[in-house]
Formats: sequence, C-alpha cells, structure tokens
Amino acid sequence: MLLSERVMQVRPSGVRKIFDLAAKVKNPINLSIGEPDFDIPVEIKEEGIKWIRAGFNKYTPSGGIPELREKLLHYIKGKGIICDDVIVTAGATGGILLSFLVTLNPGDEVIIPDPYFVLYEYQAILLGGKPVFIDTYPDFKLREEALRKAITKKTKAILINSPNNPTGAVYSKEELEMVVRVAREKDLLILSDDIYDKFVFEEGLRNNYLGQLYDKTLTIGGFSKTWGMTGWRLGFVAGPKEIIQSMVTNQQYVFSSINSIAQKAGLLALDYNTDALIEAYRRKRDLIYEGLKDKYEVEKPKGAYYIFPRVPGDDGDTFVERALEKNLFIIPGSVFSNRKSHVRISFAASEENVLKGVEILRSMV
Ligand SMILES: Cc1ncc(COP(=O)(O)O)c(C=O)c1O
Repeated sequence: MLLSERVMQVRPSGVRKIFDLAAKVKNPINLSIGEPDFDIPVEIKEEGIKWIRAGFNKYTPSGGIPELREKLLHYIKGKGIICDDVIVTAGATGGILLSFLVTLNPGDEVIIPDPYFVLYEYQAILLGGKPVFIDTYPDFKLREEALRKAITKKTKAILINSPNNPTGAVYSKEELEMVVRVAREKDLLILSDDIYDKFVFEEGLRNNYLGQLYDKTLTIGGFSKTWGMTGWRLGFVAGPKEIIQSMVTNQQYVFSSINSIAQKAGLLALDYNTDALIEAYRRKRDLIYEGLKDKYEVEKPKGAYYIFPRVPGDDGDTFVERALEKNLFIIPGSVFSNRKSHVRISFAASEENVLKGVEILRSMV
C-alpha cells in the first residue's frame, strides 16, 4: 500500500462528482460558489502590488509579520474577544489545521454540529482526532441535550461555525451561552470559526462571539470572505498564549511562513470597510428566500451567503443532478452532512443569476 492509513480514511469530497457533471454543462447558472462575487477592493490590490515592487518577497516570521499580529490583536480585542495572542495563518483553513495539530491527542473527540463545513471532518481525522456530529435539523439550532449527549471522556473540543456554512444559521446569544456553560463545566476547548462574522443580516445577532464569553476559545477568522481575498490565503487564530505559541512553533514545520505580500495588504484591509459590498448580500438573501419559501421547507438564512432548503423526496443528490439538467449548478447537502435531504444554494452571485436560479428551483417542485 503506497498511501498511509491516515489518508485512506479521507474520502474524496462528494463535491468532485458534481463538479465533473457540471463541467459538461455549458455556462450553467452557478449557485455553488463558496466565495464572494466581489473582487478585492482596488486599494488593497494596489497595496499588494506596491509591496511586490518594494521587494517584500521573502520569508516572513512563522507567526506572521509583527505589525500584522499587533494590529490583528487590537482588531480582535476590539470585538470584546478574550485572547492573549494571535497567529497569522494560511487562511482559516490553515488556522483550523494548526488548532487541531496542537490540541488533539490520538482519539480525542471534536463535537461538530451537523450540517458542517466539510474540512472540519477530514482535518480532525488527519490530525488523529475523531469528529462527533450532533444533528441540528430541522431548524439548525444548537440544543443543550444533544450537545451533552455527545460528550464522552474523550471529548476535547466543540467546534462552532456561526454564521454557518452551509445553513446560513447565526446562533443566538442564548445558544452561544449554552455552549460555553457546557464547555466550562466539562473543561472543553471551543473552536469558533467566525469567518463569516461580517455577513450577518439581523441586527440583534451581530457582534456576538464565543470568544467574548470563554477564555478557552480559539477564535478563527480570515480575510477571504470580508475582503474577497480567497486566493491570497490569509487568516488568523486568536486565543490563549500557550496554544498560540505552540501554533507558531509548529507553523514553522507545516507552512514555514505565510504569503508576505498578502500580510502587507492585510494590514490595509483591516482598515478598509466593505460593509456596503456585504450589504448587497442582504438583498440577495431576501430575493432567494422570498422566492423559495412557499415552494420549499426552508429556514431563512440570517448570515453567510447560503440557503439550505429541504428538497422533495429528501434526495438532494438526485435533485442536484436534475437541477444541472436545467442548467443550474448547486451542491448536494450530503457533502456537508450525514443526511442527504437538503441542498446548498449559494447567493454569492449576481442578482440576475440568483433570480434565474430561483425560477429554475420553483419549476422543479
Ligand atoms: C466555514 C468556513 N470556514 C473556513 C473556510 C475557509 O476559509 P479560508 O479561505 O480563510 O481558508 C470557509 C471557506 O469556504 C468556510 O466556509
């Protein structure tokens, strides 16, 4: 056997099959995308170019350039989040990987609400941990009973993603307080993936962070969504000193250091307000929700840029193939869940395409 037992546990993402199918369709209405449809603001792009020209093209310190770490710490503490230190990472993806790397012992369990962002499952497995899912259907809320039931002697951490990919759920203050109460009582670590924190469409749900409530929280964030910088691979993790310092040490061996130019541009991005760009997503959220709610069983997304309806016959896999026949590209819910009854539709697209998508989806039921 050429491959390690570790990677043999990782199935190719279910998304692969559907991408292969979609590749055969000419110019589909693409509502499958997981990144903003706006480009990086021009000032931020110019800043990157400036630093390339200035020759800032070498390795940087493994925890990130000091000026960005300092500014990030200020930015994160400004949200009321408790943390001692911050590390710059290769996107939130690199941040989650390092978080697992330095905290999980073999067999340690990580509780993850289902549906979930796919890489949590496989990164946990690759780092020797065991994902344990708690079902949040049908309304995608966090329930104390389900959380407590999932805890065993091996539980090390609870991973929470709000606003959520793929459901668009944003957890209430009460739900976050409940998670913290349980974590405190059981002495668990919390990983809080806050990458969509600027994409919240209900006033009352803004600016609530698990990291405000509990010091054993690793707050994970990044530049991919708020500033449309997905390709620049820039993120961060903030938390207790001991953990962040270990992440810095280990980043040296895993990634060496992070993209130098992106870090310089990131300094400027932190001062650059993209609220107006993000505000356009509220309207797209309304268009898609209003367009689907009388035809589908669907929760109104409160954040991120996804909607996650249940499909007739509870077979999202087949539904997605049918949608492709009608020129619409969406993702089966089974990619993000142990259930296959739903589909993920992204509204990170032009209003025109969102409306065309709605029309096709309405014709399918
Ligand atoms: C919930 C969630 N976390 C993390 C990421 C990865 O972000 P990054 O580009 O910063 O690695 C994504 C990207 O889709 C995401 O949806």
